[in-house]
Formats: sequence, C-alpha cells, structure tokens
Amino acid sequence: MSQQATAIARANIALAKYWGKSDVKLNLPAVASISLTLEPMRTQTTVTFDAKLPDDELVLNGKHTDGKPRMRAIKVLDQVRALAGIGVKARVESANNFPTASGLASSASGFAALVAASWSAAGLARDDDRWSALSRQASASAARSIYGGFVELPRGVPGDAALSARTVAAADHWDVRIVVAVANEGAKDVGSTEGMTLSEQTSPYYRAWVDCSDALVEEVRAGILARDLVKVGEAMEQSTLAMHACMMASRPGLIYLQPATLAALATVKQLRKEGVDVYATMDAGPHVKALCHARDAERVAAALQATPMVLRTLTAFPGPGLEIVS
Ligand code: DP6
Repeated sequence: MSQQATAIARANIALAKYWGKSDVKLNLPAVASISLTLEPMRTQTTVTFDAKLPDDELVLNGKHTDGKPRMRAIKVLDQVRALAGIGVKARVESANNFPTASGLASSASGFAALVAASWSAAGLARDDDRWSALSRQASASAARSIYGGFVELPRGVPGDAALSARTVAAADHWDVRIVVAVANEGAKDVGSTEGMTLSEQTSPYYRAWVDCSDALVEEVRAGILARDLVKVGEAMEQSTLAMHACMMASRPGLIYLQPATLAALATVKQLRKEGVDVYATMDAGPHVKALCHARDAERVAAALQATPMVLRTLTAFPGPGLEIVS
C-alpha cells in the first residue's frame, strides 16, 4: 500500500499574540490570538504512507531530520493513523521558502501542512475545523494557518480537545502588507513551547499579560473589521511589547530582541513621525514584522532595508488557507 498527498500552508503573523497555555496536555492557549495568514511564505509538505517503510521518516528542507521535530511529526501521524484505522509508516517531505525556526512561524505552516497532507494521504475527507484542532494540538499557532486572511484562535477552556481557530475576515477584506525585516538567519535558543512554560512558572508579569490580552484581542478584531490600521497597529504593538515584557521578566530572562530588532523598531517609529501608518510586531525571535497599507509597502521596505544590521526584507500580503495540491 502507498498513499500520498501534498499540502501547502502559509505562515501567519499574530496581530494579537499567543503566549501561555491553559492546558499543557491538550495544548490549549491561555489567551486568544488573532493572526494574518501570509502569502507567499509557504511550507509545502508531501506525506506518503508506504507499507515498505520500517519507520516514519522526516525530510526537512532536503535533510533527513531526527530528534524533537521527528517526534512531534510522529505524534501527528499517530493521531491521523488512529482516526483512519491504518498502521502504515510514512515519509514526510517538507520544505519552507523562508528561514526555519527563527521566529518566522515555520512551525505554524509546518504543522498545518503536515496535518492536512497526512489526513488526505490517509484517505480522510477534508475538514478544516478538525485540521485546525489537530494542528493546534501540535502547535497552537498552526491552528490559525488552516484558514486564510484574518483568523482568531479563542482562549482554550481546559479539557476542550476540539478547540479550533475561525475566520474573522477573508484575505480580500483588507489590502494590508507585512514587511519582514530579517534580523538574523540562525535558529533561536529557546523555542516557544519551552519559553512560554518558563514565563508561566517564573515571570511576575505572566498574570498581567494574560489579564490584558482580552481587551487587546477585542481591539484588534474591531480594528480589522473596520479596516482601521491605527487601531489594529496600536493594539498589536501593545500586545507584542506586553508579551516581550512577560518573556524578559522570566528566570532566566528570555530576550529574543537583538540590536537589529531595536534599530528596525526605531525606523518604524521614524516612519510614523513622517506620516506613514506603520506598526511593528515580533514573535519569539528577533525579526520585526511591520504592518502597513499596501500603498506604503515599498517605502516601508526601503526604510527597513536601509536600517543598520537589518539583513534583508520580505513583503507578504493576506493569503489563502490550506491547499491540497495533489
Ligand atoms: C510568539 O504556536 O510556536 O509566535 O503551541 O507551544 O507550539 P506551541 O507554541 P507556538 O507559539 C507561537 C508564539 C508566538 C505568538 C503567536 O504566534 O501568537
């Protein structure tokens, strides 16, 4: 027996951030989050269930990969196999067209594509909500990459295994851009899963972060629906900085920001002084992602490109949800 499917998922950027879990076992988020699905930042994943394979294989960007990434992939494959009633091992071949594990949310598009490809290869019928719930169990931000455009993942009530993300507005609702200022190409030291557990256990600002998140999520959602960039941008920056303050006050401190990050933030602030509506966000990594109107994207990219220590920029726009290509 050999069954194969290929899926494409896009990365997403949180406009209202997720950091912290309400149920570690089911991987439920302690706060709601809202993201934008990003074209053309893609992961393409092919899953082949093959009776001849002695074990599950993971090939990431052309390299055979063991350890944690493979164990996390096997967990997804096991769940899909249980649902489909098959016992066959799989080869997973996955490639990103943007830097892996550097705060550009490759785990989000990676797990979304893996869930959809393995589900389809196992012969199960498409079900976006179940894909989202399964992706969320692997990595909560991945739940959002199943859908296109502006997407919300609600806060998880402990025990709710079915929690999935949902669409706030379609990709064509609002013509905004995300300009990514790449600060370095390396992998980060502390991954999100480990980092948020550390924050919850040691950061005196963890509670404050969770308590302020609801109001920020409301503001981001209302701002998206009203296409109000200043409203979304201000709430997004506060969500970002509150999350980073919580991270930094952990023990030991989680400092994801680098000199290039601060330089890029200064550029964003300067552009605002010059009258451009542009706002910044960072994930668990050093890159700055600037939100602006489509008409300002070239100017924002040029200013960030000219910023000392910024390596390069890439520009993304609202993208579609999960695609099965074969
Ligand atoms: C800072 O989804 O990678 O990017 O659920 O433990 O896999 P796990 O965490 P993950 O965390 C992403 C955190 C963030 C903010 C966000 O994307 O909302």
